[in-house]
Formats: sequence, structure tokens, C-alpha cells
Amino acid sequence: MESLKGRDLLSVADLTAAEIQLLLRLAGDLKRGSVDLRCPRKVLGLLFQKASTRTRVSFSTAMYQLGGQVIDLNASVTQISRGEPTIDTARVLDRYLDVLAIRTFAQSELVKFAEYASIPVINALTDLEHPCQILADLLTIQENFDALEGLTLVYLGDGNNMAHSLMLGCAKVGMNVIVATPADYQPDLAVTQQAIAIAGDRSQVTLTQDAQAAVSQAQVLYTDVWASMGQEDSASDRIPIFQPYQINTALLKQADKDAIVLHCLPAHREEEISNEVIEGPQSRIWDQAENRLHAQKALLAALLGVA
Ligand code: CP
Ligand code: NVA
Repeated sequence: MESLKGRDLLSVADLTAAEIQLLLRLAGDLKRGSVDLRCPRKVLGLLFQKASTRTRVSFSTAMYQLGGQVIDLNASVTQISRGEPTIDTARVLDRYLDVLAIRTFAQSELVKFAEYASIPVINALTDLEHPCQILADLLTIQENFDALEGLTLVYLGDGNNMAHSLMLGCAKVGMNVIVATPADYQPDLAVTQQAIAIAGDRSQVTLTQDAQAAVSQAQVLYTDVWASMGQEDSASDRIPIFQPYQINTALLKQADKDAIVLHCLPAHREEEISNEVIEGPQSRIWDQAENRLHAQKALLAALLGVA
């Protein structure tokens, strides 16, 4: 884990395949309690400009369990809300904190923080990516199947931050990924090309509009809200457009009989996923949410150099 000490995690693509595998192994060990890591006196700052339940609480609990401390820097109670420049805030926080997790809108804002702060900066979700979620997702998939390589994950819905990070993460570990979206909601072209390049000839990255055909190849079905944070105004217009991409019992029947269903949460039940599926036997959504804690504890330990 030496290679991760002091590094930023701004994108899933920042991690090598070997680093992802090491983080997943450590997360599994932490979950089983077979290792106990400590980083006393280390302080994690959580600078969030969007709402969060899982990311905020799992990072906080992970840091407390490692023996460190957390400062919740809700952006509205800092001078950021009054216009203090990012490059100033970043340099000041760098003098107080040991690691900083940021949830914001533009990826460029996160990149600017990382440029001006020498401590590890973690992407806790931007409009472009959600890498911490992917570590928990891959851990959950690994718990359910012998190996990640060669599995096919089908993501249904909006070509958003989750779609981007899943494409990159699956490509890194040799999983096939099919992203099924309406025509006007495809993932970012540059991220798609990056994922295809990472996958090389080891696995496939495919975009489609055909949810039914995509699902027939799936061992993992994944969805996310149809309107992300910041897109609330278009939420009701999106419902009829995205309806064919809902994960419901009929769609799930088209997949492998052992397929599992994941959702990063929060869910809009009866929109992107039916109640029956979220509560059904193929759902691994609550394990997935739990795994945020274990995966991020492994990540913090690695970035702080105690793993
Ligand atoms: N999945 C996820 O990041 O959830 P929160 O928005 O609650 O942190
Ligand atoms: N795409 C969602 C993910 C939430 C965890 C959003 O950005 O709101």
C-alpha cells in the first residue's frame, strides 16, 4: 500500500488495477476484523457542497474507528459560502488537516483543491465521478462472485457520475460494462473513450439504448437516480424518458438467474428501481451501502500511510 501514501483520489482512473485489488483485500480484512489499523491524531475534513448520508457517515465512522478525528466542513458554514477563493481555502485547510474529502459540482473545483493542497484530496462525488462508491461496489461484487474479471455489469439509466466511475472501475478490473441509457443521456464521450482505452483487449465497454438486450448478458444490474443532485428541475420531465430503463421484476427476469442488483442510493423507489426488486432476494444494496465504510477505511489507511 506504500504506493498510495500521500496520493489524491480524484478519479477511479487514478488507481492501478493492482491498487484497487489491494484496497479491496484490505477492505475485506477490515470488515472481517482480521486487521486493526490505527491513525491516531490524524484529522479528516469533510467539505461537502451537496447533501450526503452514506458518504458523510461512512467516512466519519471509518476515521473514528481508525482512531482519528473528523471535522464536518459543511460548505455553508465556511467562508466558501461568502466567496473565499478555492485556492486560498485549499492552502489554509492544507495547514490544519491530514486528509480532505470533497463533494462538489465541478470536477475542476476538486482538481483545483488538489493542486493547492499537498494533503491527500479525495473525490467524495462530483458531477463527473464518484470513485469511493466504486470501491464499495467492487467489494460487494467480489463478495458475491469468485472473481471480478470476466463478469458483466449492466448500468441502466442516466449517463452520469455513477456511470462514468463504473465504466472506469470495471475496465480497470477486467469486467465488461454495458451502459444502457436514453439517446440524449449517454455518458461523457471523453470518459467513455478513456474507459475503452483502459479495458484494452481484456474486457468490453459498450453503450446501448436497448435495456432488454443489455440485461440478458448481466451478472450485475446497477442503477442510480434519473436526476442527480443539481438536476432537480428536470426530474419530472425525465420520468417518461427513462421508464424503459427501470429495474423491475420483468427486466430482472431477462438477466442471469444468479444476477445481483446494486444501487448506490439514495433510491427513488418505483422510478429507477421497483420496490419489489430493491427488497427482493437478488438485491445486495444494503451490503453495498455497508461496504462504503470498509472500503473507505482501507482508502484512508492507505492514503495516510498506515496500511
Ligand atoms: N451513495 C452515496 O454517495 O450516498 P450519499 O449521497 O448519501 O452520500
Ligand atoms: N448520481 C447521483 C449519485 C448520488 C450518490 C447524484 O449525483 O446525485
